Amino acid sequence: MARILIVDDEETIRRTVAQTLSAEKHECTGVGSGKEGLEALEGGGFDLVLLDLKMPGMDGRELLAAIRERGLEIPALMMSGHGTIEDAVEATRKGALDFIQKPFDRDRLLLAVRNAVSHGSLVAENRVLRSRIPTRTRMLGESEAIRAVRALVTRVAATDARVLVSGENGSGKELVARLIHEQSPRADRPFVDVNCAALPDTLIESELFGYEPGAFTGAARSTPGKFEQARGGTLFLDEIGDMPLSAQAKVLRVLEERQVRRLGGQKTIAVDCRVVAATNRDLAGMIARGAFREDLFYRLNVFPVRVPPLRERRADIPVLARHFLAEFCAGSGLPARRLDPGAETRLAGHAWPGNVRELKNVVDRLAILADREEIGAGDVERAMEGPGAAVPSAGGGGGGGVADLVRSCRTYEEFKEMSERMFLEARLKANDGNVSKTAEELDMPRSNFYKKMEKYGLK
Ligand SMILES: Nc1ncnc2c1ncn2[C@@H]1O[C@H](COP(=O)(O)OP(=O)(O)OP(=O)(O)O)[C@@H](O)[C@H]1O
Ligand SMILES: [Mg+2]
Repeated sequence: MARILIVDDEETIRRTVAQTLSAEKHECTGVGSGKEGLEALEGGGFDLVLLDLKMPGMDGRELLAAIRERGLEIPALMMSGHGTIEDAVEATRKGALDFIQKPFDRDRLLLAVRNAVSHGSLVAENRVLRSRIPTRTRMLGESEAIRAVRALVTRVAATDARVLVSGENGSGKELVARLIHEQSPRADRPFVDVNCAALPDTLIESELFGYEPGAFTGAARSTPGKFEQARGGTLFLDEIGDMPLSAQAKVLRVLEERQVRRLGGQKTIAVDCRVVAATNRDLAGMIARGAFREDLFYRLNVFPVRVPPLRERRADIPVLARHFLAEFCAGSGLPARRLDPGAETRLAGHAWPGNVRELKNVVDRLAILADREEIGAGDVERAMEGPGAAVPSAGGGGGGGVADLVRSCRTYEEFKEMSERMFLEARLKANDGNVSKTAEELDMPRSNFYKKMEKYGLK
């Protein structure tokens, strides 16, 4: 059974082809224009596309070019009427597997589809094999704690179970989600990432569920949502604890019914994606306060994976630090640097409230600041003082506070940004990194606050 998209402006042709192919239990979807065809393919979930050469607007040839431009490897069969055979042959040189002449010979159509499907599965198989070659996504560390996480990831990746990844800021939750996808049978399908904290409340639904033209002001064309885009693959709902309650209710329904309806749409669309969610929030506490739905929690938390904070696996710190240092130096064309034992001890002794991300930032800074090949404990001390080192950190330190800031900034713009950063960082810290709470306190939309955090590297 293959999922086949038929793109033809003539309804009768779409119907005949679909009927013929249903004899071999294929699941067919028909669309009437190249534009719709492209949208459907970008959404993923098809094994083969049959396209008509002559169509008004984007014709078959243009559609094929657009498909290949987007790097979609789906096999394509070109359909053509009398007098356009030469063009169809030409199309096979441009990336179509074969062409089929209209009116169709039933057996010829079935044979071409059978060949194309087996070709497609070869391509997919190759892709899976390729994805098994160790990719750049690696979870480093040899501590017991991180080994246990890796083992869990491998075990759960083989299944389709929903996973809830929990852990502090910067501990590696997204990395875990990506690894689960890459080690799963869905690896050759899309990994679609939604940051629930960065999306304004008003956009969450249209992003997740998609929309039809006219669903709201500015909704010009049919747009698949993230659930549809992740078809066959993995949907990563990041920062799920920051999703507003109204959206939680809707996501719960989609997970229960395994189907979505686009905003303003009539059709229900089957959802075929594995859901991995992540949060740094204490969901149990949020449930108790009524800020997170308990039923959604149980739907998502089929398989919990907790990523331990870096301070619970200090043995990983030197390994990670060496790796980030080598990576940064190589990536920025700097000469290789080494950490001396004193530097490693100093790094391993730090509390790392920002976990691996904070460690990476400090090591990057070390690489830039170091003027000798070997980095010592003193260099580490300086690099940990804060961004730019010369600029006072929110914690005070220099004692001068604003006066220091005034002195160290050259332009007004720089001053504004530095003070904004210090202010946001301090308030965030005072709230134990709770984004929603801090944003609320500061009377700032959560999504704006989140963007600022990204801008200033406070995540
Ligand atoms: N064990 C590890 N090995 C190598 N790199 C790691 C490891 N853990 C985390 N990283 C790197 O550290 C950075 C932070 O990790 P990641 O984004 O996965 O954390 P997170 O928990 O999702 O953070 P946040 O809570 O801020 O969203 C990334 O650059 C990631 O690649
Ligand atoms: Mg993350």
